[in-house]
Amino acid sequence: MILYSDMKKFKRYLVTSALPYANGPVHIGHLAGVYIPSDIYVRYLRLKGEDVISVCGSDEHGVPITIKARQEGVTPQDIVDKYHNIIKESFQKLGMSFDIYSRTSSPIHHKTASDFFRKLYDDGKFIERTTMQYYDEEAKQFLADRYIIGTCPHCQNEKAYGDQCEKCGSTLNATDLINPRSAITGSIPVMRETKHWFLPLDQYEDFLRKWILDGHKEWKVNVYGQCKSWLDLGLQPRAVSRDLDWGIPVPVEGAEGKVLYVWFDAPIGYISASKELTPDWEKYWKSEDTKMVHFIGKDNIVFHCIVFPAMLKAHGDYILPENVPANEFLNLEGDKISTSRNWAVWLHEYLEDFPGKQDVLRYVLCANAPETKDNDFTWKDFQTRNNNELVAVLGNFVNRALVLTQKYYDGKVPARGPLTDYDRDILNELPEIKQAIEENIENYRFREALKEAMNIARLGNKYLADTEPWKLIKSDPERVKTIMNISLQITASIAIAIEPFMPFTAEKILKLLRVEKFGWENLGSDDLMKEGHVIGTPELLFEKIEDSVIEAQLAKLAATKKANMAKEAGKQEIAPQKQGISFDDFSNMDIRVATILEAEKIAKTKKLLKLTIDTGVDKRTIVSGIAEHYAPEELVGRQVLVLINLEPRELKGVLSQGMILMAQDASGKLVLLSPTEKVGNGTIVG
Ligand code: 2FM
Ligand code: ZN
Repeated sequence: MILYSDMKKFKRYLVTSALPYANGPVHIGHLAGVYIPSDIYVRYLRLKGEDVISVCGSDEHGVPITIKARQEGVTPQDIVDKYHNIIKESFQKLGMSFDIYSRTSSPIHHKTASDFFRKLYDDGKFIERTTMQYYDEEAKQFLADRYIIGTCPHCQNEKAYGDQCEKCGSTLNATDLINPRSAITGSIPVMRETKHWFLPLDQYEDFLRKWILDGHKEWKVNVYGQCKSWLDLGLQPRAVSRDLDWGIPVPVEGAEGKVLYVWFDAPIGYISASKELTPDWEKYWKSEDTKMVHFIGKDNIVFHCIVFPAMLKAHGDYILPENVPANEFLNLEGDKISTSRNWAVWLHEYLEDFPGKQDVLRYVLCANAPETKDNDFTWKDFQTRNNNELVAVLGNFVNRALVLTQKYYDGKVPARGPLTDYDRDILNELPEIKQAIEENIENYRFREALKEAMNIARLGNKYLADTEPWKLIKSDPERVKTIMNISLQITASIAIAIEPFMPFTAEKILKLLRVEKFGWENLGSDDLMKEGHVIGTPELLFEKIEDSVIEAQLAKLAATKKANMAKEAGKQEIAPQKQGISFDDFSNMDIRVATILEAEKIAKTKKLLKLTIDTGVDKRTIVSGIAEHYAPEELVGRQVLVLINLEPRELKGVLSQGMILMAQDASGKLVLLSPTEKVGNGTIVG
């Protein structure tokens, strides 16, 4: 059977890499799943002289960013600025060769996404629906599912989110939660009507079935399988707008307070980034002879194989992806990588801890990439691969070739004499390896491709071990010239073959050989290093990683684990009962219901807020150490319980008259106590 993709010849490539969320730094899971494979692919295409653009950028919208901003008392723009810069810089240091790394808060993206929505709207591609959604009457806003907290109906976890329970992993709807509360004010949300725009995916089901299930049987099994199960379940209309104040405003009259759903705007980010990159962007997005490939992680499959293609189809001007080689997940030391539990190896930290060792990480993550199943990253494996493969195989061969040339010929490439059959066999293997690398890369099997590239160094080592030039240098110096000439040709081929995987090392080899970069077509040639050319002074490509270095990384992870366990245990740890007090002691405490009228941060302190409160008895000032737990604007208007007859105290020059009562858990988290119904200020508690 002829596959859809086989029938096409492509003139150019458009490679996209999932836009990372700008609410945290990038970790090894992201790298192994998405960015390393994508960079290998585009570097390979460029070496082949193909016309290719590689686009990426930060995904800067969505609810988690607004939650993080609220928690940190800053704006969402502050959050995305911070992480966009960290991510961009760490990618660049790792040698990621995107042609552009853009961001979705940029004006060009806002316009592109807005125009895209508007075209679909004008063409009648959406359906409008009024739905019921939770609304926080105190905060006066609709609540995204993430903003609702309640008890999980499956495991009774009291802190489940409206979209997911992190304890038992169930996917939830906000309406599933028992005792739902607003994460913003803690109040009980009410149901309100709201209007949204939906993309009727059900109308694209036939097209998607044909395009994917019949037309793209060559897609990776995990990707094809996931698409098939989605399609077999039947597609439903999906909302493409949200009630939120962070994002791209819905460009339609009467849509105030609504923004595009982050998963609607994010993939359009690939188009905006291309526009920003080149005035020629349409050539890449609108010609059937462009091959578009999306590199993503497995959690993104539905958006890139079903939703985005349906959007592109609805729009009508754009091509569809030719392949979506999604990877599975990478675990760390046997546990799922988790940003919230800090269970990760962060790229920016790795770059600091291992200066100059970008290629070691690139190598290990590719050699161990979760291409067909989830895989585990361990520091021990990292050390073993470095010491036994990079140092002992690759570094060792290149070093021997260079050192012997230096030693025997003062660095001058020797002339080659007649070749033996064995020499020919060795040289003949190179084009075969070249082909194997090509086939593997072109079919997104990067681990295999890397193995093949390393096989060139293995071949070199075998050649030297079999021919033993050091034993012949006295007895048969002419033969040694041939052996060293061939060894240098192999070294040059290695520099070509490993460039997509380990660009820093490839560059270093070229520098040591004192030659310019070769094209891919030169890989396997026996004439790359010319007779008489003088190479540079040999230097080691890699160094052994000692146990102490690995132990330090493991100790870092152990500390994280301990902190996580303490946090979890702390939730259950109940402080012992204090010494008994008399009834009089208790009734002497004058506790009242009061309302916070004003709240402001006290300059140069992290924890203190100056609150003006109405105690019913009077209006007074109380200094409270809750600035790390509540933003001032969250407090105004809230009823709280106050011990009003506590002796006044001066704190940072402000006289504090009383104490706001709060609950504090073992991790130090503070929660205000409020009456469950509104009562008059000054009402006695007791
Ligand atoms: O999963 C993620 O990290 C998303 N930010 C990926 C977005 S990919 C694309 F659509 F932009
Ligand atoms: Zn649960």
